[in-house]
Amino acid sequence: MSAPRKITIFDTTLRDGEQSPGASMNISEKLEIAQALVDLGVDVIEAGFPIASPGDFEAVQLIAREIRGTVICGLARCNNQDIDRAWEALRDAERSRIHVFLATSAIHREFKLKMDKDEIVRRAVAGVERACGYCDNVEFSPEDAARTEPDFLCRVVEAAIDAGATTVNIPDTVGYATPAHMGRVIRTLRERVPNIERATISIHCHNDLGLAVANSLAAVEAGAGQIECTINGIGERAGNCSLEEVVMALRTRNDVYGCETGIVTPRLVPTSKLVSNVTGLLVQRNKAIVGRNAFAHEAGIHQDGMLKERSTYEIMRPEDVGLAKTDLVLGKHSGRAALADRATALGYHLTAEQLQTVFDQFKLLADKKKEIYDGDVAALIEQQFHEVPESWSLVSYSVQCGTGGQPSVRLRLRFADEEFERQLTRGDGPIDAIFLAIEEVTGVSVVCKDFRVQAVTVGKDAQGEVNVEVQHGGQTYRGRGVSTDSVEASAKAFLNAINGVIQTTGPRLHPQHGLAVAKV
Ligand code: KIV
Ligand code: ZN
Repeated sequence: MSAPRKITIFDTTLRDGEQSPGASMNISEKLEIAQALVDLGVDVIEAGFPIASPGDFEAVQLIAREIRGTVICGLARCNNQDIDRAWEALRDAERSRIHVFLATSAIHREFKLKMDKDEIVRRAVAGVERACGYCDNVEFSPEDAARTEPDFLCRVVEAAIDAGATTVNIPDTVGYATPAHMGRVIRTLRERVPNIERATISIHCHNDLGLAVANSLAAVEAGAGQIECTINGIGERAGNCSLEEVVMALRTRNDVYGCETGIVTPRLVPTSKLVSNVTGLLVQRNKAIVGRNAFAHEAGIHQDGMLKERSTYEIMRPEDVGLAKTDLVLGKHSGRAALADRATALGYHLTAEQLQTVFDQFKLLADKKKEIYDGDVAALIEQQFHEVPESWSLVSYSVQCGTGGQPSVRLRLRFADEEFERQLTRGDGPIDAIFLAIEEVTGVSVVCKDFRVQAVTVGKDAQGEVNVEVQHGGQTYRGRGVSTDSVEASAKAFLNAINGVIQTTGPRLHPQHGLAVAKV
């Protein structure tokens, strides 16, 4: 028997994944996810697109400086400025990769780039050569490869490898391919590009037709050695190939693919939860591998079969993907060590000081609710470390409401060491009234685009988590709040989003401050 082929897992959660609407992450969140990806065993982390913004640059640089044990990659277009900036961000990494890309399909050549084929080849070669001047690990992507004429794709790939590319990535940028199509593209490259053995063929599929995982698997079957994917399949539009799905498909159907990855599969669920918590992008219940229902057997006939022999209805074991049998973990008497243990199991790396802060909050929560679940622990950690600076904070609120009448709210907020109170009778229900009062006190008006409440865990005393998305000045801000009182959670989430606005625009006092709003 031949040894299984090792497939390189290239994670682009922090680059392509971050391009999901509403998924932007701050620098400490990116660092935290990068560390979780190392624990998960990914081979390459695409940390960002350094030229895109100063924030992207700083995040890639920080990850390159702090993260060890994997290759850190930065994206660049095929031009000197992009490539030089990518290298500046990556230069301190233990191992680095520059990923250069240039579109090759007729539609992109004609309408986006306005370049002919010769010019595309010339630029691709120049880009790869410049990147190779900095580091010996260079990836080239012919963007929209799946819609590129096969002859031209072969020509560009051959030229990129000759110029020094060590990985050639084949993106289905618009999610247009089917499995048979993708398999054919990879086979064509293997048959017709004379120097193809000098590089690893990679696959990068988008999910517009729901085929990203199937297309990636077809590419592997045809000989691709690297898969580009994201946690929970997040990414532009319908997302990218989902890491957890493709990895578990390779593992479960090893008989078909004969491949292995270095992924520590019991880290899949914790990493999925971490990314969902950080980005606010919920995982659908029936999502394969990491969805809440992925291993839930409801039908009586299935339950009966499962009791007799698990393999009747189960092709993977929940523990293989890190789904704990029960996540009831801590209570009032649990100590700091038990909390630290749960935090680590959930994928968080806390300093002693951070652990102490979370522990103090944990004790307060344990007074309010008897059983503390993993979801509660994650929510406490997220609240402590992923908040934008708390310019305004909630001191107290009271609200009176009922059917037929307008709600009345009294709200007190703190800004620096001053407190402001506002009372109003307006709005459509208690939460709307509190949001209006917050806008009046802070002087920041926003348009609320999304408002979601969900229970963090099970039980009547479960904490409510509220996620809001607001718009201000053409920009979107997200806010999150958690409390055993869901109205308070809503107020915290809304304030969290307002604090995000203030971080960008600076504090603004309402024109009527001092009249409508009483300073206390
Ligand atoms: O989808 C795409 O084409 C990309 C490239 C930059 C690889 O994300
Ligand atoms: Zn992409």
